[in-house]
Amino acid sequence: MIYMNKVEIKPDIYWVGAIDWDIRSFHGYLTQRGTTYNAYLIVDKKITLVDTVKHYLFDEMVSRIKEIVPPSKIDTIISNHVEMDHSGSLPKLLDICQNVKVITSTLGLKGLKRHYKKDWNFKVVKSGDTLNIGKRTLHFVHIPMVHWPDSMVTYSPKDKLLLPNDAFGQHIATSARFDDEIDWGILNEEAAKYYANIVMPYGNQVKKALELLSGLDINMIAPSHGIIWRSHIPEILTEYTKWANYETEDKALIVYDSMWGSTEKIAYALKEGVEEAGIPVTIRNLKTNHISDVITDVISSRLILLGSPTLNNTMLPTMGGFLTYLQGLRPKNRVGFVFGSYGWGGQAVGEIETILKKLSWDMPVKSINLNYVPDKKELSEVKKKGNELVKYIKK
Ligand code: FEO
Repeated sequence: MIYMNKVEIKPDIYWVGAIDWDIRSFHGYLTQRGTTYNAYLIVDKKITLVDTVKHYLFDEMVSRIKEIVPPSKIDTIISNHVEMDHSGSLPKLLDICQNVKVITSTLGLKGLKRHYKKDWNFKVVKSGDTLNIGKRTLHFVHIPMVHWPDSMVTYSPKDKLLLPNDAFGQHIATSARFDDEIDWGILNEEAAKYYANIVMPYGNQVKKALELLSGLDINMIAPSHGIIWRSHIPEILTEYTKWANYETEDKALIVYDSMWGSTEKIAYALKEGVEEAGIPVTIRNLKTNHISDVITDVISSRLILLGSPTLNNTMLPTMGGFLTYLQGLRPKNRVGFVFGSYGWGGQAVGEIETILKKLSWDMPVKSINLNYVPDKKELSEVKKKGNELVKYIKK
């Protein structure tokens, strides 16, 4: 197969990654635009490859490397992160270039050994360590939990280039390589979706990482997924700072599922009430929206309303799945509200409340739980609740 040519991103530094056009589930995250795995080849006295690609795209990466140097000439591989979308091609590559040195963090070493059961020629680097490869001296900075314990970035001061692996990534398959070659709206949406689904639980660690990186002179950020930042660096740093601080906007998100339409009626009455009070609302039915997209709405919404009827003494499985995901991602500083309908029992509302309490969300307005089918008067009361909720989020 013929692949798009390698791309020189800086003098003697090449993108040699692979494009996964068809992937639609990244461990459950809906990647409707596909993704890329970005590997970078630095041609210096010591030829250095930074990260690799998923195992099934090995040939694509190697074909790009071959346009520049024979892969057997690689001296050093830097493994910034153990996860298999970046380390998956190491075994095959190390069969070709057997004496290559594999640079990784202490936890990277542990992780790579657990994954591949190999005793490669490892060199462990601490945060702040450097490595001279000829004209360049590369710097390593550990950024634990952004988003795995082993996560590390590589920085080249000569090139003002940051290679931060997963941080600042987006799942977009495209033949464009740079942020000024694709629509900003798509890029921002995918960067937000990526942060919401991958990085959100680690706001404090992201803040520490941003502090560590703030002292570096950078004019290009080349992550391991999606496009490379060269024209919108201040914008993406601003977004990351906002997300890391769990900053939200004065807007509402209604997430619900319904059996016979009663919970849906309540959802739409709440929507009317919130809108009437002047706040924009997004409404997401869990039957038709993927949880990884709903989480992208969560990242910016201050008011979040969650609704389910009671089925078999509990909430609907769609809401159960969404709340499991939400609890893992731990968004903070939200105002929550719970609603639902029931025939008998009516346990769903209380169960959802318990989960929102665990997340330490404010719940200033009493939940709604209506029997069977709501009537006009009840829906009018529901609308008033929507109206009332808005006063708790307006700053
Ligand atoms: Fe893109 Fe944590 O792997």
